[in-house]
Amino acid sequence: MLAKSVSKLERTIGGGPNPPPAGSFAVSDEGCERAVPEADADRSALANGRSWEVGYRWMLLGATLLALCVVVLGATVRLADAGLGCPDWPGCYGALTVGGALATPPAQRAGRWAGQPLDVARARMEMLHRYVAGTLGLLILGIVVLGRRRFALGIAGPVLVALVMLQALLGMWTVTLRLEPLVVTAHLLGGMTVLALLWWLTLRVRSDGARAASPHGALDGRSPGLGLRLLARTALLLLALQIALGGWVAANHATLACQGFPTCNGSWWPAADFADGFAPLVGRLADAGMSGPGRIAIQWVHRLGAMGLFLVLGTLAVLTGHARRPAPIRRAGRMLGALLLVQIGLGAATVLAGAPLALAAAHNAAAALLLLVLVALNWALGRAAPRIGQRDDPHLERGLARPGVGV
Ligand code: HEM
Repeated sequence: MLAKSVSKLERTIGGGPNPPPAGSFAVSDEGCERAVPEADADRSALANGRSWEVGYRWMLLGATLLALCVVVLGATVRLADAGLGCPDWPGCYGALTVGGALATPPAQRAGRWAGQPLDVARARMEMLHRYVAGTLGLLILGIVVLGRRRFALGIAGPVLVALVMLQALLGMWTVTLRLEPLVVTAHLLGGMTVLALLWWLTLRVRSDGARAASPHGALDGRSPGLGLRLLARTALLLLALQIALGGWVAANHATLACQGFPTCNGSWWPAADFADGFAPLVGRLADAGMSGPGRIAIQWVHRLGAMGLFLVLGTLAVLTGHARRPAPIRRAGRMLGALLLVQIGLGAATVLAGAPLALAAAHNAAAALLLLVLVALNWALGRAAPRIGQRDDPHLERGLARPGVGV
């Protein structure tokens, strides 16, 4: 289902497989976008004997999908309390597989694992996450090495490699520091960042191919204004903050600290201890426990964050989703609005239903999809924005919408 959502997103946003050429959304006299033929970029690359280009683009899309799976699988492990299913790293009870760990009876295990029982289901879940994340790490290394010469990946290549290494470290510390909330939250944020970066590279490399396939794009007649682009950037930042807050709620077991929705334990301003909820951030193991009012504080701030996000993302969705916008922006805007409502609904349902695993994992998946849509929207707005050198239009040149057409 996630895979379908991403490829649908990819088809809808100007990214792929054949977005309009950079810096433009082709607009006909009637004001409709000129459809760029399906798979133009891929066909052109194949015709020119550049099949590796097509392969590379699919590799990036595959890595994005895999990253989405890793993020959601990681959340499932976390929310199912399987994070310590294997209490060592990178192996499981000293073996490389759960089968290997099972082969040795607990009493015969060496060292600190001697006599410790093994929860097979949790251990399998944890190891699956490690294998899939390891595969993603290798795929990303391949992408960076292969893309270094052919595509100007720029700083994104080294940043991706550094992030993958950091994620491996955070994964290890999650286990060895016994679910330290700060590490758990950082691991979630790191995973989301890898996902966003891979998606951004997918859109970028695909648009390079499309530009080669169709170099004469029409100049966009309804360029988005600077204000709209700034709003989209701000929305991305706020979403990252809200994701971090969500991770903090889950890592500190504050999921059910507030009963009921929209009120918290029957109150609009519940008795909460914000100092305990947020400081000190470091050095508190999840099982060492935060006070009840501390947990209420972080759950409440996450809900207030959702309200803020509703206002900002909702405004962005309305401004970008209306009929006069170019199709890639309009579709991303509408998708953003719909996902925002779904996400808030999932958050409320998670609380009201007592946090069943399926709902909590869906809440994480919807956050990841929101991130993808926002990245795509920022990308589409950036591409529709005027480029330096488009001197034929003074409004475009100053990064402003033409009178009456932008925000
Ligand atoms: C657009 C708004 C929202 C976003 C982007 C968002 C995002 C997130 C994320 C990323 C997590 C972490 C899940 C994980 O551990 O992997 C989370 C957790 C959580 N969120 Fe939200 N959230 C939003 C709105 C809400 C709302 C309105 C509620 C309603 C009460 C809510 C309740 C929760 C709860 C209870 C958890 C903990 C889940 C658990 O431990 O199982 N969220 N959120």
